[in-house]
Amino acid sequence: MATYDTLGTTYARTRQPDPRIAAQIHAALGDAADVINVGAGAGSYEPPETVLAVEPSRVMITQRPQGAAPAVRAVAEHLPLPVDAADAVMALLTIHHWSDLAAGLRELRRVARRRVVILTWDQRVFRERFWLVRDYLPEAAAFDETRATPIDRLVDLLGGGRQEPVRIPHDCVDGFAAAYWRRPHLYLDPQVRAGISMLAQTGDDVLAPGLARLGADLTTGRWHARYADLLTLDTIDLGYRLVVSEA
Ligand SMILES: C[S@@+](CC[C@H](N)C(=O)[O-])C[C@H]1O[C@@H](n2cnc3c(N)ncnc32)[C@H](O)[C@@H]1O
Repeated sequence: MATYDTLGTTYARTRQPDPRIAAQIHAALGDAADVINVGAGAGSYEPPETVLAVEPSRVMITQRPQGAAPAVRAVAEHLPLPVDAADAVMALLTIHHWSDLAAGLRELRRVARRRVVILTWDQRVFRERFWLVRDYLPEAAAFDETRATPIDRLVDLLGGGRQEPVRIPHDCVDGFAAAYWRRPHLYLDPQVRAGISMLAQTGDDVLAPGLARLGADLTTGRWHARYADLLTLDTIDLGYRLVVSEA
């Protein structure tokens, strides 16, 4: 069974595409006439040019909206597709789940005629800047250490490429790990945590003491005093990166 057959049962409730991040991804895809989405999940961020979604989890495929591109059940490491199958291949917030990153990236390069676009994060920036993992849930950061790939290594494996920061709006619609950086109380919501693999896979028993401290700091006003500078920001760079590699 695919991990997301258990992890992803409520995915579409908290993980909707954010329009500002969508615009940045679509700009990175450029003039691609056809796009394949690998690790596609419920189909977030797929532009109209999407011709195929590749996704191992049946539970995620069933959450794809009506009218979305057809989906095939497969993993990135073995794409059931010919060489140069589409102008662009994108893989968004998925590479940290792959069992063999190098094999998956080789497959993306084989299938992309012109460009590979990956959304991931720089773990060094994430753990240093994001108050949740730095100050409350270091166990979650430790879990991410085991699966994050340094951006330089990712670019090397892709045979070159550029990276651009993806700033997170304070009202980000897509509930990924750092989405609620200015809405701290939402991390206390189990349904929100269920949509964030870093928290769901670390587990509530491990996170309980840090979450209790966060709850207490929100009640006493300590959180707002400590992070007052954040409340003045509309967007923030917490390490999310778009990596674009031209064929
Ligand atoms: C956090 S979700 C992201 C889904 C979607 N790209 C998005 O941005 O909403 C990660 C997805 O990667 C998929 N996945 C896990 N292992 C994979 C693999 N080896 N190859 C392709 N996809 C995989 C999961 O099933 C899940 O749907």
